[in-house]
Amino acid sequence: MSKKIQIVSKTAQVGEVEELCRAVADEVEALIKEKEAEGKKVILGLATGSTPLPFYRELIRRHREEGLSFENVMSFNLDEYEGLGRDHERSYWAEMWRNLFDHVDIDPSNVSVPLSIFEDAGEAALEYENAIKEAGGIDWQLLGIGGEGHIGFNEKGSQVDSRTRRIKLARKTTMDAAPSFGGEANVPTHAITMGVGTILEAHRIVLMARGESKREIVNRAMSGEVGPEVPASFLQNHGNVGWFLDNDAAGS
Ligand code: PGA
Repeated sequence: MSKKIQIVSKTAQVGEVEELCRAVADEVEALIKEKEAEGKKVILGLATGSTPLPFYRELIRRHREEGLSFENVMSFNLDEYEGLGRDHERSYWAEMWRNLFDHVDIDPSNVSVPLSIFEDAGEAALEYENAIKEAGGIDWQLLGIGGEGHIGFNEKGSQVDSRTRRIKLARKTTMDAAPSFGGEANVPTHAITMGVGTILEAHRIVLMARGESKREIVNRAMSGEVGPEVPASFLQNHGNVGWFLDNDAAGS
């Protein structure tokens, strides 16, 4: 079995998960070092879900074994479930700490995740947008892709200029989340997500996809019609996107 990554186009790389995660971690490490040399913080946009887990493990390994420091990193999470609260083990706040932040030297005040509990969704969303702007915008955004092509929780129908907002989760999304919530009835019905427009403002975007179940939607996102039917297709309009696909997702 080959361990090599295949560069299939200027923007797409296909290979074994471990190799892809190393390549993506190389990008982040280089960016951290570049910004450090400039005396600036790196602003990362990070994602939850199962896809990034081996990538986060690689970052943690580099921190522990190679001294990669996150002191200079600021992070904004893509999205959060409504109503769970941060203490809930399935909240994205808790997932990010469990899977990454607890294991590296990031300053907790540099971690932002949309609020799970809020009085006014519009206000919570606007504050999040403003916090990203105040930080200077996102340098490097990580994305997964949902079974129907969502990025963040921008479900089918999300427009290219959508901003951070409250959104009703698609049935496919709640069904996919059901096992980890012990049944669909326990899955929150709504979330706060960065918008497609918010995501597209990131300087660099990396979308990772794994598994055969993602093959068709990845194909539609990368080379199908661009539009709200498959929100990830809007990435075709961004000049600096890297697609990192395992062999199953790429169909190779
Ligand atoms: P997954 O989710 O990484 O768990 O497949 C991706 C997504 O829904 O964006």
